[in-house]
Amino acid sequence: MKNPDAGTRLHAAEAFAPGSIGNLGPGLDVLGLAVSGIGDAVRAERGNAPGVVIVDPGHPDLSNDATTHASGIAATAVLRLAGAEDLGLRLWVRKGLPLSAGQGGSAASAAAGAGAANALLDTPLPSIKLIEAALEAETVVAGRHLDNVAPSIVGGLVLIRSMDPLDLVSIPVPTGLHVVLVRPEMPLRTADGRRVLPRVVPLATTIHQTAQVGAIVAAATSGDLALFGRAIDDRLAEPARAPLLPGFAEAKRAALDAGALGCSISGSGPTAFALADSEVVAGRVGEAMRQAYTNAGYACDVRVTVPDLEGLRVMTG
Ligand code: HSE
Repeated sequence: MKNPDAGTRLHAAEAFAPGSIGNLGPGLDVLGLAVSGIGDAVRAERGNAPGVVIVDPGHPDLSNDATTHASGIAATAVLRLAGAEDLGLRLWVRKGLPLSAGQGGSAASAAAGAGAANALLDTPLPSIKLIEAALEAETVVAGRHLDNVAPSIVGGLVLIRSMDPLDLVSIPVPTGLHVVLVRPEMPLRTADGRRVLPRVVPLATTIHQTAQVGAIVAAATSGDLALFGRAIDDRLAEPARAPLLPGFAEAKRAALDAGALGCSISGSGPTAFALADSEVVAGRVGEAMRQAYTNAGYACDVRVTVPDLEGLRVMTG
């Protein structure tokens, strides 16, 4: 996270936070990867009266109420955590990420809101406090999980070792990793995607999931892309959510047949993600997945990208 003017009194700042892939397959709520390209941006200006006002929520379906908009909740939390409740903030949100898509949009709005508010503090908070602030927003808007918020703020691949107390581990991103994001035109709210998760998980599933998360960390550290892909093998959330996602099973089959290292649901869906070891393979995988969704009757948006290693960035002025 960069805040080039930390410590100086500013009147306006803009922050950008990238989207992310929550869970990365088997790491339900504990692994997330920031991805390059589109993201959400928030411009904050000092206002005359204390409190946070949303001037532009960034999307017609989003609320102007700072107590329910992710950017407003996160900015308000930043002011509280900094003891700066007397400060007034006016926020303009630019939503680059699609709503209810499973691409970390609510987390990116929260992260950018926290970052923009933070830049206007006389003494900005460290990024761990911004994560706390953004988590407050994510909890209200999408449920209490950090696997989108953390990578959106710190960038790269992040393991959430613990939320209480907060303990995050940045894992190296293996060289050459390419990401395909395929969003079929079907909304799925995170809350609905969470409702279908099993409350009790069989021991054999728990053991399998634990092994995959360990393998992802080992593969990322050693740069073993083939192992990284094999470990995208989720037997917990994916089987529970796939029935809500028509076309996903066919798209996954098509991705693997086209040479993807691995494929699963991004966050709670409906976006599916696949990993590839080159841009050429990623492009082929994206087209194969598009064809599969088209055959199932769903238009989709396909993005070929790479991990974002920077996370939240703040521009001032
Ligand atoms: N870990 C969260 C879930 C991510 O799977 O519900 C939501 O985007």
